[in-house]
Amino acid sequence: MIRYGIIGTGGMAAAHARGTRGIDGVELSACCDIDADRARVFAAEHGFARSVTRVEDLLEACDAVAVVTPDAFHAPLSLQVLGAGKHLMCEKPLTTTFEDAQEVAAAARAAHAAGIVTFINFTYRDASAWQEARRLAADGAIGEVRHATGRYFQAWLASNVWGNWTQENHLWRCGIPRRPDGSPVGPAAGGTLGDVGCHILDFLTGVAGPATALRCSVRSFPAPHPTTGAPVTEWEGRPLDANSSVAVELDLDGGGLGLVESTRWASGHPNQVALGVYGTLGSLEIDLEDSPTRLRHCLGEARHRAAWTSVDVAATPSNFQRFIRSIQTGEQDQADVLRGAEIQACLEACDRSVRAGGTRVPIPSLFAG
Ligand SMILES: NC(=O)c1ccc[n+]([C@@H]2O[C@H](COP(=O)([O-])OP(=O)(O)OC[C@H]3O[C@@H](n4cnc5c(N)ncnc54)[C@H](O)[C@@H]3O)[C@@H](O)[C@H]2O)c1
Repeated sequence: MIRYGIIGTGGMAAAHARGTRGIDGVELSACCDIDADRARVFAAEHGFARSVTRVEDLLEACDAVAVVTPDAFHAPLSLQVLGAGKHLMCEKPLTTTFEDAQEVAAAARAAHAAGIVTFINFTYRDASAWQEARRLAADGAIGEVRHATGRYFQAWLASNVWGNWTQENHLWRCGIPRRPDGSPVGPAAGGTLGDVGCHILDFLTGVAGPATALRCSVRSFPAPHPTTGAPVTEWEGRPLDANSSVAVELDLDGGGLGLVESTRWASGHPNQVALGVYGTLGSLEIDLEDSPTRLRHCLGEARHRAAWTSVDVAATPSNFQRFIRSIQTGEQDQADVLRGAEIQACLEACDRSVRAGGTRVPIPSLFAG
């Protein structure tokens, strides 16, 4: 039996609990939060045997641990989980700084060698349409990739479709992550790029192939006051300085061009994730707002007639199911923490590009130097 635990019992933790509860061979052993009442209520609601406030107590009671806290705590908690020899599922983004990503990646590499499984929760890999697109691209169905576009649009700064942005679960996403000395990590750190841009960078490069260099533009705007609508640049003493609209141009490994765009200002699109990949032999398109199982393709001879086929792809395992199955079989499935760190390298390049006035910069290597 795998004794399973969750650190951080907020909104996303409920998805972890629902997605893991009921998998054969798993028992929900403990959950942990700095807010004891929240952890207690969460344990009762989702059927965890106990709730704790100390991570050490959770680690004693668990074999596999999900880190589902705000981003700033992912690195120290992941290192603590791996240091205790436990299997790790970390929420995205893996870390808030590239240095932390390198440290967690090194720890994960050592843990893998010792038979420990690690996962990064890039949720949209759960979409069977994406898994099929990835398979088709890897099998050469679209030929050489020439162009790829990825879009992750949200609406919660321009509308209250997900409630008010002053709620804590939105508010911590509105400021640039700070280093322990209080200094901001960088102009492109966190924000929509760190929060959901990491998803779409994974979504695009997981099908179109890795990128070697990029250039990035970010915008950060005042938030609208919840009652007056007046522009607000800080809330309760916390600066609202993180990016909320982003464009990234990627040099793909095979020479193709990738374009990623993300914003929190797209009214009408609470959570749209879409991808198009275009190659010498055909095209693949997905729009999860339309359906997570529907893949459109225009391939082979059909491309000369501009004839699209829409396929409903049978469900594929979720990240939660893959994580548990990997532990049970000893075979590490996609996507491990090293993949999370690769995406952090892209985010680091975005930050370096913005600092350099939007110029093209190489994506740094994880283990160099
Ligand atoms: N994969 C996805 O699609 C997806 C979707 C939403 C959120 N997320 C990620 O999940 C994480 C959590 O997001 P959320 O929306 O649930 O946030 P949230 O603010 O709703 O919940 C965070 C919880 O963590 C607790 N917490 C804070 N610091 C802690 C610490 N040091 N130790 C233990 N508990 C701590 C808070 O008290 C709170 O209960 C974030 O990293 C976010 O990026 C991922």
